[in-house]
Amino acid sequence: MEHIKTKNWTVNPSLLDREIIRQAAEIIKKGGLVAFPTETVYGLGANGLDSKAVASIYRAKGRPSDNPLILHVADTGMVKELSADLPQKALLLMKLFWPGPLTLVVPKAKHIPVEVTGGLDTVAVRMPDHPVALALIRASGVPIAAPSANQSGLPSPTTAEHVKADLQGRIDAILDGGPAGLGLESTVLDITSPVPVILRPGGVTYEQLKDVLSDIIIDPSVLGQKLPKDQVPRSPGMKYRHYAPTSPVILFEGEPQRVKATITERAGKLLDQGQKVGILVSEEHIQGYPTQAKILTMGSRTNPASAAAELFKRLREFDQLQVNVILAEGIETTGIGLAVMNRLRRASVEKLQC
Ligand code: TXA
Ligand code: MG
Repeated sequence: MEHIKTKNWTVNPSLLDREIIRQAAEIIKKGGLVAFPTETVYGLGANGLDSKAVASIYRAKGRPSDNPLILHVADTGMVKELSADLPQKALLLMKLFWPGPLTLVVPKAKHIPVEVTGGLDTVAVRMPDHPVALALIRASGVPIAAPSANQSGLPSPTTAEHVKADLQGRIDAILDGGPAGLGLESTVLDITSPVPVILRPGGVTYEQLKDVLSDIIIDPSVLGQKLPKDQVPRSPGMKYRHYAPTSPVILFEGEPQRVKATITERAGKLLDQGQKVGILVSEEHIQGYPTQAKILTMGSRTNPASAAAELFKRLREFDQLQVNVILAEGIETTGIGLAVMNRLRRASVEKLQC
């Protein structure tokens, strides 16, 4: 891929520089690529109605082209032009959760390029809750197609530095608006079937959605497979991994004290073999692990939002520390903990039930 000179712009979300937004919007209008902050993670944006521009997103990320993209809108009016037949539920959900971390999968309108939908007859739409993202969409005057702004397969970027590390020289511009707040991607909810299905858990929780839509299903792939303690763990092929750092992640779930004991034992063995070991722990467990290991904390057990905000950042830090393996503590799957555990399970090469 040819080298592009990437512009790096800093924008203050509470005091927008209109001139920078205007220039970034010009790039989008001309078919270029701009990374921008949202309240979940950074996105890599292109004009969602321009097939060529959308195709270049896949090239920049190294993303498989059958994985469809989300169209980002600045108001609910834009959605009506993107959906052939907007379900009643959409109106209620948009009213309650937009702007915010909820992506709705709805029937697509004819004019949406096949590059956006990956050939499906549905399209994913969301209105981000971030002043920079909203200003960019408004100034561009088009829906912005945007996946997370990372190299395909790596953890999603929660800061502009992460975007730079992955995409500098491959895209036209990066808007740095400070760290993304939530740290994990939006919830993807398919409302094209009579009973809505959560395809990806995220910022809007299952419990919040269940309160509004009494009938709702979590897609079985969301939770992955759990292994009994004595069973030999399977190592799924790389193609099933996602959100993953370069170092392999081994995930330990179950009763917290048993998790800690099992990780301690495994870490000891690996350290004896001369391995460089990383351990991802909750704040409550920072004491007592082998001190030769690289220990990073991921929020508190009683506050899964703090784990969500730190997970991707920590996984990238372990790569910088060049550990050979990351042993990670699981947390409970209530609230946003479900999204945290979905990402950790998908990132891991081995999962143990303790
Ligand atoms: O928070 C987010 O959603 C971030 C920010 C940038 O908005 N974006 C993001 O995009 O995470 P991406 O491309 O990394 O993830 C989009 C997810 C993928 O899992 C994709 O398969 C799913 O949405 N998706 C998109 N269109 C779909 C469709 N028509 N039907 C089912 N799933 C769809
Ligand atoms: Mg992604």
